[in-house]
Amino acid sequence: MAELWLLAWPAGHSLSPVMHNAALKEMGLPHRYQALEVRPGDLNRAVAAVRSEAVLGANVTVPHKQAVFGLLDSVSDAARQVGAVNTISHHDGGLHGDNTDVEGFLALLGRAGVNLPGDGSLKAAVLGAGGAARAAVFALAPHAELVLVNRTVERAEELARDFRSHAAFSRVERTATAGVLAGCQLVVNTTSVGMERQGVNPDQSPVEGEALPDSAVVIDMIYRPAQTRLLRLAGERGLRNLGGLEMLVQQGAASLRIWTGKRDVPVDTMREAALAALAA
Ligand code: ATR
Repeated sequence: MAELWLLAWPAGHSLSPVMHNAALKEMGLPHRYQALEVRPGDLNRAVAAVRSEAVLGANVTVPHKQAVFGLLDSVSDAARQVGAVNTISHHDGGLHGDNTDVEGFLALLGRAGVNLPGDGSLKAAVLGAGGAARAAVFALAPHAELVLVNRTVERAEELARDFRSHAAFSRVERTATAGVLAGCQLVVNTTSVGMERQGVNPDQSPVEGEALPDSAVVIDMIYRPAQTRLLRLAGERGLRNLGGLEMLVQQGAASLRIWTGKRDVPVDTMREAALAALAA
């Protein structure tokens, strides 16, 4: 039996333990996944403990996704370019960092029926400029010309600068107006606008319904609530739309593949477990 950990602060609301434990049980593996509350000052010690043979690996989430870089022996290209690690595994006698949010996001797009052309001809808008936006930009860069929108436009400009050699940005803007989004076949919300949080009204959208382009696919990375105001507005416009639960499930599945070395992980079981925990 080995341990799998989630290093987070706070860790209370995470769906990862139920999702991973359901999968491990179905795979007949004796491992156990648990969330550990790790204060920022304790991250060094927690990552040092992952080096033990009793620990198969770990997920890393807010607020540790950047700070963990300096504590690892190697990181993947995706983690380096996104600037965030969400998965730690043992590799060549050291600790290796990956970013499976990118794979999770690509799988979400696949489930939403978005075709990713090899010639960069998709036109896509990414709303937000935080870590989630960086994962989306990294994933879309080979396929799309990007419109980047963020309330703090300087952050979006910085993101565009960081990715200038990998991604084509046609516009960087402060507000997602109809004119800014015109012609986009894909609109991805990576902001926290519309997320269920204490003391915040979740019935908000980063874009007005009428600003969404005709025939765009609308993706919201938020999974709590399952149907955000943005997705509702997209639905009212008759646009295909999908929330972020599939990304959560698929990033988890990708992490589990890394830790177990098995291609086949029970994604449907993980999705059912996450859905049941969300509904509870
Ligand atoms: P993450 O790493 O999860 O993406 P983050 O770095 O906190 O989280 O980024 C949150 C994103 O949501 C940012 O793009 C933020 O915009 P700012 O850069 O202007 O802060 C965006 N966001 C959060 N609350 C917002 C609001 N009320 N209106 C518009 N954008 C908001």
